[in-house]
Amino acid sequence: MPIQLLPDHLINQIAAGEVVERPASVLKEVLENAMDAGSTAVEVQLEQGGVRRIRVTDDGSGIPKDELPLALERHATSKIASLDDLERVGTMGFRGEALAAIAAVSRMSITSRFDTEPHAWRIDADPRELAPAALNHGTVVDVADLYFNTPARRKFLKSEGTEFAHCDDVFRRVALARPDVALQLTHNGRVSLRLPSGRREARVRALLGDDFLAAARSIEAESGLLRLSGFASLPAYSRSSRDAQFFYVNGRFVRDKLVTHAIREAYADILHGSRHPAYVLFLELDPFGVDVNVHPAKIEVRFRDSRAVHQFVYHAIHRALAASGAGAVGSPAAEADATQGAESPAPASHAPQQTYFHQPPQQGRLAMEPASRAYFDFAASARPEPAAGFSATAFAPRPGAAASGGMAAPALPASDLAPPLGYAVAQLHGVYILAQNEAGLILVDMHAAHERILYERLKTLLDGTPGVQRLLIPAVFGVGAKDMASAEEHAGLLERMGFEIAPAGPQELAVRSVPALLASAQVSELVRALLSELRDYPSTEVITARRNELLATMACHGAVRANRTLTIPEMNALLREMEATDRADQCNHGRPTWTALTMTELDKLFLRGR
Ligand SMILES: Nc1ncnc2c1ncn2[C@@H]1O[C@H](COP(=O)(O)OP(=O)(O)OP(=O)(O)O)[C@@H](O)[C@H]1O
Ligand SMILES: [Mg+2]
Repeated sequence: MPIQLLPDHLINQIAAGEVVERPASVLKEVLENAMDAGSTAVEVQLEQGGVRRIRVTDDGSGIPKDELPLALERHATSKIASLDDLERVGTMGFRGEALAAIAAVSRMSITSRFDTEPHAWRIDADPRELAPAALNHGTVVDVADLYFNTPARRKFLKSEGTEFAHCDDVFRRVALARPDVALQLTHNGRVSLRLPSGRREARVRALLGDDFLAAARSIEAESGLLRLSGFASLPAYSRSSRDAQFFYVNGRFVRDKLVTHAIREAYADILHGSRHPAYVLFLELDPFGVDVNVHPAKIEVRFRDSRAVHQFVYHAIHRALAASGAGAVGSPAAEADATQGAESPAPASHAPQQTYFHQPPQQGRLAMEPASRAYFDFAASARPEPAAGFSATAFAPRPGAAASGGMAAPALPASDLAPPLGYAVAQLHGVYILAQNEAGLILVDMHAAHERILYERLKTLLDGTPGVQRLLIPAVFGVGAKDMASAEEHAGLLERMGFEIAPAGPQELAVRSVPALLASAQVSELVRALLSELRDYPSTEVITARRNELLATMACHGAVRANRTLTIPEMNALLREMEATDRADQCNHGRPTWTALTMTELDKLFLRGR
């Protein structure tokens, strides 16, 4: 074929591939336009997950009659006019292509009334015709039959429930950023969210719930031209998925690796690896310091001084969390870190010692507090200084143990009678098991150890026929639209794993059986965590590739929780299972599950010559 220019319509359809991935991306663009137009009240009406119809009504500035045809043109915008404008852009839109792209893959019309106009006008995208219309003020954008003319795209659409859930996400993201705008979302004629305008806190409460706010620190930090505000959850309120993480840069919701990393680091000391913090955070900086023109969907940004942003976000959150007392035991170190200023983030190696903070000790243990504090202080002071007595490596699992594939007891005479991990003596603070073996003492992190055992056993789950535990009373619980959709989509897979799950209502699931290995898990939490993980996987191939992550989630939920009292026989049973399990000295997150101190090491601690 000779080289030739593509027709406009085809160019727009190609561009639509980048901007309009699914109904939710249409909603995002149209909602952002309404925000840019200075609206104070916006209504969103969806039909069939947004595939059949997306209609957004705003009370913003409106579009003058003679500009209406331009609004549908590619590279036509009222938001920037020069490179300088682009570099300091403060509106959500600026590329001048969203409406053109949407118009190319749907049946679209815009009705709008500009102030000085005697009445409203309506423009259809195809055929492009203007006609007088009735509307008091603002703009109505109506997008119907998405992808009606691009069947290949249409095939990629998921179920109505899934597409609605994505639209719902987009709506919430915009709503969190703009508490000053009243918003309403309707799906198939039913109102699903109604949000009056008001203060930010009220909006966050409406969208993330009282529990989140009650367990969150408010963040207010400023340094030079950077400002961070919002709320971040204390470790007690962690989640099994990342779906309560909202980060905004100058009012724009973004997913940014750098920022995510800074936040994870800030939580590294205090949050278990498989749990995710919840947060709503707003970073504000000079628009000149951030490039928003990185991606057609405008969900990524690039910071000019990324290191400064990383440091600032990390310290702001780290400090707020430390001040809360969440880091009680480790707080001297945490505080020192926070005040260190612009130095590198705290190493994640503190994690093993402090991961139980998300299960704070209960009231009944008050009397023990002073003693334990003194112990931890002592341990903390001794740890970094091997010279002071014992070698720090005593706290790490033996390097050889993992490689040898089994549980090699440290310095134990080969005797059939004495089990390598010895016998349980006591449970410490609902977290550790203290055991005595021939060489000295053993400390086991009971949750981590149990998790490891379950994980290894679950590996067989996806291969063979699972042992299934029927629940005497089905567990029925409420779930969101997205979970509903992924339960439906992955019903087959879930059944192969041993879960029998069926809808019990429009927003309710009933679980009738679980894999026998997980019989003691909290069913609703377990299933919610699984569903949220599954819906992040686009296809079954991905599920196979990432099955170990799924298994880790299940193991974490099936394992005994901190603060559960174990009897001595139960503890001994756990020790025996550990001995029988491959790699039992590492939990799924790579943390050690047990550690040993020999008598010689204990003697050294007390300067006791033998
Ligand atoms: N709801 C609305 N109210 C008033 N004007 C609007 C509205 N929606 C669109 N416009 C006008 O139409 C123009 C084109 O919108 P479009 O979304 O295609 O581009 P943009 O918002 O400028 O840039 P981007 O492609 O980044 O979204 C906008 O610049 C704006 O002037
Ligand atoms: Mg736009």
